[in-house]
Amino acid sequence: MCAWQAFAEEDTSLRLPDPKFSPGNDDSWKNAGFDDSSWKTIKADVHWENQGYRNLDGYAWYRFRFVLPSSFREKTFSQDKMNVYLARIDDADEAYWNGVKIGKTGRFYDDQGGYSTNFNAERNYQVDANAPFVKWDQENVIAVKVLDDNGLGGMNGAKPVIRMVDKVLIDVSKDADISNPELTGKTVILSNGFSETMSGSMIATVVDRLTGKVLETKKEKTQITSGATHPFKYQFKHERGQMLEVRYQFTDEKTGKKTGAVVESLPYILTPVSPETPRVNGADVFGVRPGSPFLYKIPATGKKPLEYSVENLPRGLQVNNATGIITGKLEKAGNYTVTLVVKNALGTDRKPFEIKCGDLLALTPPMGWNSWNCFGVNVTEEKVRGSAQAMIDKGLIDHGWAYMNIDDGWQAAERDENNILQPNEKFGNIRKLADWMHERGLKLGIYSSPGPLTCGRFLGSYKYETLDADIYNDWGIDYLKYDWCGYSSVVENDSLEAFIKPYRVMEKALRKQPRDIIYSLCQYGMKDVWTWGAQVDANTWRVTGDIEDTWDSLSGIAFRHGVDRMAPYAKPGRWNDLDMMIVGYVGWNDNLRRTRLTWDEQYMHVSFWAIQVTPLLIGCDMTKLDDFTVALLTNDEVIAINQDKLGEQAHRVAKEDGYEVWVKPLHDGAVAVGIFNLDNEFSRIKVRAEDAGVNPNNKVRDVWRQQDTGVFGNVYEAVVPPHGAVLIKVQK
Ligand code: GAL
Repeated sequence: MCAWQAFAEEDTSLRLPDPKFSPGNDDSWKNAGFDDSSWKTIKADVHWENQGYRNLDGYAWYRFRFVLPSSFREKTFSQDKMNVYLARIDDADEAYWNGVKIGKTGRFYDDQGGYSTNFNAERNYQVDANAPFVKWDQENVIAVKVLDDNGLGGMNGAKPVIRMVDKVLIDVSKDADISNPELTGKTVILSNGFSETMSGSMIATVVDRLTGKVLETKKEKTQITSGATHPFKYQFKHERGQMLEVRYQFTDEKTGKKTGAVVESLPYILTPVSPETPRVNGADVFGVRPGSPFLYKIPATGKKPLEYSVENLPRGLQVNNATGIITGKLEKAGNYTVTLVVKNALGTDRKPFEIKCGDLLALTPPMGWNSWNCFGVNVTEEKVRGSAQAMIDKGLIDHGWAYMNIDDGWQAAERDENNILQPNEKFGNIRKLADWMHERGLKLGIYSSPGPLTCGRFLGSYKYETLDADIYNDWGIDYLKYDWCGYSSVVENDSLEAFIKPYRVMEKALRKQPRDIIYSLCQYGMKDVWTWGAQVDANTWRVTGDIEDTWDSLSGIAFRHGVDRMAPYAKPGRWNDLDMMIVGYVGWNDNLRRTRLTWDEQYMHVSFWAIQVTPLLIGCDMTKLDDFTVALLTNDEVIAINQDKLGEQAHRVAKEDGYEVWVKPLHDGAVAVGIFNLDNEFSRIKVRAEDAGVNPNNKVRDVWRQQDTGVFGNVYEAVVPPHGAVLIKVQK
């Protein structure tokens, strides 16, 4: 949360009404007097593509008309500055208040230095409340000129709002110390922007979000001199998994004026700690091709040291007893049933495991990491290695996470004299990097485009597909994400065949390689890729545009994108890809920040991805993984639903105003039921046994908490946090 949000929403802010909208560009549209009555109304918190303006790229204008009541500035400490919050704008914008420019972000085509996007920055333009162009108690017009270069465009993410800028601020960063899941540590900063010392009280009220009960009130008197900040250090006690909300407010002793209340939910950890006894985690099945190098690290938890072994391991394979890494080669196709065994001082665990040596790879959705959502084109070898090391050190590798995928930005500007693609100066020898990964049981992925250029305008594979696939094999690459972008410039026509063609070319080039390379298409779902991805032997295909770390983006993909129509096409080896997960610290460009999703939304995110059998690719900086995110990504029962060997995708069984219920069949006859609350409040959601297709007498397990909760009954009732999820498994 940013400091400027520290105003009472109710009394010191003004929500702007829906604006008028027009594509195109005309300088006179900035003026208050311009007649926009013929323009259409639009929503300013949703990309224009999602409101009927499909494929609109280029310039467009928004115009907000509103009366500015003087009452809304009277309750604040200070009355001379306003903050115009315009959320995010894809890609560049310039904003005017009654014709006067108040801010600009990104650059337009004609600007000095040329076009530059800043689609992810929040726009907060400060305006002098006493400026002559600001008309108190009269109508005002804020006009916003927007340039969208490609993809989704326009204002998005939240509704625009004007706030008075206060001089006493409460800054609640989203960071919290939760290394002890029964005690959350928070630092809240109060700052005094006035020229005099302030004396007053800071009050923190702790509420149980489920019951609404006030649990605790902490009051602290303080005095802060002009320009100073004062940190308040809190320790909130709670049970593991208990959901708390804290309301912070400062009251000035002299005048009784209050800052706006800042309310935040505290992070809560649902995943229980893995037991010290040994446990084999991960999928039950693994696909490999005859003759390809075999690499599988047995994911297992328990008190270290662990000793790994495999019973009935077929000839050609060997396991390292200390690391659990199985390597070697199978010459003959066939199904081999083995038993994975892990021992420690406290006991032994055994798990049947099927090695299917044949044509098909990715028999369960790939699990790993991708560099794009955190580092964007600033990815470096050091960052990839750091993320891989964190995958190991934070224990994710022990829960089945394996792929380390380098996205766009690794390629040199030119091929060498033999036309071989080279890494740029941010990377050393890729072969060495792959070896380093493989020695640790991890796998290495890479990125390219069938076009002459990638989305980030690096070299693509166009006309060099075979050479590129050859070099990926030489380097020891295990996964290729093959994007579209630059191929738009060479695609022959708009036919389905023309759209499939480039992916066929790379399919052939990959199939010639004596190693298994997961083939991951990324063309945003064009031409219903889910209907033909398998024809080009792709293992995964992206079905959406790029995800962002907002509820709008997440809920758009999950609930408004029609993913259920794609479900019949998901099966072992063929997965609909909903994009990388926007948890932890993301930023696309080194501007790393904690995901803007709430804690509840993150539970919803991982729950939905799990039942959709989508590849699980973590999009955050792994070196910044905190306890919340680690717990979110290492719940073996949640992961097991995603990795279930039946490979069936969930389908929707109920859609009501405010909630949805999705059901995913599992190989043992049980079903996973995801109950999703789309509302902004806690909801009691009722699921009928017949809708879920379950017998009312069947037992229910809360998967996140890993607890049995009785039988389903005729109607199962779940209390679901706002934008959150409850994920249950109903036994057969
Ligand atoms: C986009 C793709 C992103 C990322 C980016 C790289 O087209 O959807 O996931 O790969 O290109 O430039």
